[in-house]
This record gives sequence, structure tokens and C-alpha cells, in this order.
Amino acid sequence: MLSYQHAYHAGNPADLHKHIVLAELLALLTRKARPITYMETHAGRGLYDLTAPEAVKTGEAAEGIAKLSLPDGPYASTLASVRASHGADAYPGSPLIARTLLRETDQLHLMELHSQEFAALKGALAAPNVAIHNRDGREGVLAISPPKPRKGLVLVDPSYEVKTEYADTAAFAMKLVAKWPEASILIWYPILRAGRHVELIEGLKLKFHQDEVQFQLKDGKGMRGSGLILINAPFGGEAAFEAAHRQGAPILRAIETTARFDRGR
Ligand SMILES: C[S@@+](CC[C@H](N)C(=O)[O-])C[C@H]1O[C@@H](n2cnc3c(N)ncnc32)[C@H](O)[C@@H]1O
Repeated sequence: MLSYQHAYHAGNPADLHKHIVLAELLALLTRKARPITYMETHAGRGLYDLTAPEAVKTGEAAEGIAKLSLPDGPYASTLASVRASHGADAYPGSPLIARTLLRETDQLHLMELHSQEFAALKGALAAPNVAIHNRDGREGVLAISPPKPRKGLVLVDPSYEVKTEYADTAAFAMKLVAKWPEASILIWYPILRAGRHVELIEGLKLKFHQDEVQFQLKDGKGMRGSGLILINAPFGGEAAFEAAHRQGAPILRAIETTARFDRGR
């Protein structure tokens, strides 16, 4: 039974952390003409309305994107482009950020299990180079990997409703690296009082970059911060974290500027 709905949280500080880094990485990966493959395990609905009752109820966007004045960059240009098409209260989720920054020659595969979110995603994202799958994201991405083109990025953004998702995500990443070694993998996790994200970190027996930021959310159900793990960073990809700290200031406060963990295999 899926109860998480991202509409309550779209545009909050954790989304900004993830979305700015994602936009920076996609801009980097598309600098060369060579097409790429982009996949998401947990896509959400793609496009959010910050005046919707869900967003108003939590007020999380008011503590995030509404407070930010963004300098130029791939994230700011994507937001401007989406708002030019959908209005000033629109907020792009990760799939729409990706579709906006990617080219017609790039391939997108988006997994979303919730039938309503899946239907909304199809409505918001349909394009010839976008495949939208109504299936379990971890299982789906593994089933179609390695894809063509082999250069690419996978965003792993579970809701962590189920406690085992931290360990499951680590196990998934290990399997994905084995099946599709060229893939860069960006994993988001919440920093909660219970500290369960340690299970994710401990399960990753490989090299990765890690970035954590903290922020204040009035009713964030104990969420104190947001973390990102980047496996197999594209050349120069670590700079995406510094860009998020700069662009997200003063909402996002870096816990560590860019922590690098080399755990060996
Ligand atoms: C955190 S939200 C995604 C937000 C989106 N990545 C963004 O940044 O805009 C997580 C999504 O995963 C979906 N979901 C939950 N379990 C799933 C599963 N096993 N496979 C695929 N999607 C799932 C939920 O319905 C929800 O829409």
C-alpha cells in the first residue's frame, strides 16, 4: 500500500538539494554531443502546482523554493522554462527537470508504481524519447540495464516509507553497478533522527561521493537534512554539490562541503 505523495513535499529544501545537483549533473553529461540514457527508479508525477491543497497544507515549498532567489545555472533556467509554459506556481519534479535539460537524442526511462502518479507523469512528460513504466523502480531499472546509449545517469529517489528501503537501495546500487558499470548513480536519502541512512551507506561497498546539507522545516516530521550519494561521478561531477550549496544558500547549509568516502571494494 503506497501512501507517500510527493505533492506534499515538492519544492521543499530537500527537493532543492536533489534537483540543483541533478540539473548540474545533466548539464555536465550533455556537454558532449554523444547521447545519454537517463533513468529514474521513483519518478513521481513530474509536475507540481504549489497552490494545490497538498502543498499549501504542509507549507514546505514556502520554506524552500519560495524563499530562494536563484543565480543563473541549469536549475534556474529549467525552472524558468517550466514556469513560462505552466505558470508561476508550477514546480518541476526530477523527470521534468531531466526532460527539459536533455535532448531529443537522449533516452529517458521513468519508473513509477503508484497508478495515479503514473497517469499524471504520462500526461506531463509524454515525448517520443521518454518511456514511462508502471512497475517497481529497482526491479524495472535492473531489467532494462544496460541500455543503449551506455553513458548515463540513474536517479534513485525512494520515499523510504518502508524501513528496509535503505538496505534495499544499497543492494540495488551494487547490482546496478555490476550490470551497467558506465552508469552514474545519484541516490537521495533523508537525514532523520533515527539515522537509518547509515544502513544505506554501510551497504555500499564501493567508492562514492557523499554530500549532506541541513535545514529547518517547521513540520518536517523530524527531517533534519538531506543527503546525496554519487557513484561513478562523471568527470567534474563533484562540483555539482558545491553548486547546490551556493545556489541553495541560505536555505541549505552544508554539513560537509563535499565529503568523499573511499571504502574500497
Ligand atoms: C520521493 S517521490 C519521487 C520524487 C521525484 N523523484 C522528484 O524528485 O520529483 C517517490 C515516488 O516513488 C513512488 N514509489 C513508491 N514505491 C515505488 C516503487 N517500488 N517503485 C517505483 N515507484 C515507487 C511513489 O509513488 C512516489 O511518487
